[in-house]
Amino acid sequence: MKRLFIVMLGPPGAGKGTQAKKLAQAFDLVHISTGDLFRENLKNETALGQLAQSFMNKGELVPDDVTIQMVEERLSRPDCEKGAVLDGFPRTPAQADALEALLLKFGAGVKVVPYIKVADEVLVERLSGRWMSTAGRVYHAQYNPPKVKWIDDLDGSQLYQREDDKPETVRHRIDVYKAQTAPLIDYYRQKGLLVEIDGTQGIDGVTEDLLKAVEEA
Ligand code: AP5
Repeated sequence: MKRLFIVMLGPPGAGKGTQAKKLAQAFDLVHISTGDLFRENLKNETALGQLAQSFMNKGELVPDDVTIQMVEERLSRPDCEKGAVLDGFPRTPAQADALEALLLKFGAGVKVVPYIKVADEVLVERLSGRWMSTAGRVYHAQYNPPKVKWIDDLDGSQLYQREDDKPETVRHRIDVYKAQTAPLIDYYRQKGLLVEIDGTQGIDGVTEDLLKAVEEA
């Protein structure tokens, strides 16, 4: 069976993580979030985690070589045999080229690139209301609240806000996205892989459009 690789594209707070989890479940794929991988390294106090933290807290991108190497290692694990939903990677044209070369080694390629479009002012509101669980589940104080405030529905642990979700860091992350990641919109459009998704709908509406986009790809 040919492996299925989906690349989620969109600005910080567009809903990539929320939707990537749903797509991974629907198509029985692994969800790979480079942001989550860096945060996991940080929690485990690895050298990679410490390096990544210095960039993440400022809202800057972690250098390409480090990020590409981490993704290469992750994609070579057996649980990726059916493919993966990539969330937060690639984020620069150099990462996109590296991904293409890497997937070619598996005899595969990117199948579809949903681009979740959301206006800047909505992004700040979404990220300032985001509550995270240590297991990586994502809530929103207003749009996707847990049953009990600040408590994870599944394991009862305390939710927290990400360090880089402070409004001033969010604004810088949006600028970094526009300068370094937005060129990928044309990169994938030219390859005929881009599907624009209206990310301002409710979470279920976005999921419906994404499922359709992947099925029709
Ligand atoms: P990363 O963790 O990837 O952050 P990001 O791309 O900025 O994306 P976010 O996780 O902030 O947002 P999202 O689009 O996933 O939205 P979510 O679903 O959570 O990266 C963090 C940092 O790591 C980077 O700044 C960089 O330093 C480093 N890094 C990571 N990858 C890298 C790479 N490839 N190269 C270099 N550096 C890298 O939703 C947001 C909120 O909105 C949630 O509260 C959610 O509940 C809510 N929500 C979602 N959808 C909706 C909706 N439709 N309606 C209402 N609310 C919604």
